[in-house]
Amino acid sequence: MKQNFKKGLCVVFSRPLALIVGVALACVTAGAAGQPVKPISVWSGVYTAAQNQRGEEIHASVCVMCHGHQLNGAGQPEMPPSPAIARASFLRKWTGRNVAALFMFVRQTMPPDAPGTLTDQQALDAIAHMFAVSNIPAGNRELPSDLKALANILIDAQP
Ligand code: HEC
Repeated sequence: MKQNFKKGLCVVFSRPLALIVGVALACVTAGAAGQPVKPISVWSGVYTAAQNQRGEEIHASVCVMCHGHQLNGAGQPEMPPSPAIARASFLRKWTGRNVAALFMFVRQTMPPDAPGTLTDQQALDAIAHMFAVSNIPAGNRELPSDLKALANILIDAQP
């Protein structure tokens, strides 16, 4: 019943609000054709060391002033108070959601003073770095740019 409800929402809302994070997410998790997909954990090697390195450069140039070098929210004092974007508290907040939702959030709202200026690839690389700083291990495939594939990767605070 829950599934049907979600799908119903998709049909009603997906056209005018295709880019709204929550709805897109509901559509992706419900699966457009209704086929079940077995989700994988963010702890199963979903980004590469090289992707993390690229992400680290993005953080150092775009995100650091607000989220801090440790990604713990300790940015520059003149910047708006910003949350941690790595480690346990951050992961707990996103637990049960998928990387597509995180990607959409970052891609569409960060940095807040110039939202939408990151490319898809930059947003993904930045997320890979957030995972690396969270001690989530790298693997041998990069975070994919395909939303459906991203929706299949679940965020969890622990392995
Ligand atoms: C000008 C300051 C600023 C910059 C630059 C910035 N952020 Fe943020 N970020 C914020 C603020 C403020 C929030 C909280 C916004 C909210 O909760 O809606 C936030 C929230 C987030 C969140 C969600 C955190 C949570 O608790 O769910 C993520 C992820 C994030 N930012 C990633 C990034 C990344 C990646 C970059 C660099 C590409 C970046 N931000 C650049 C200020 C900034």
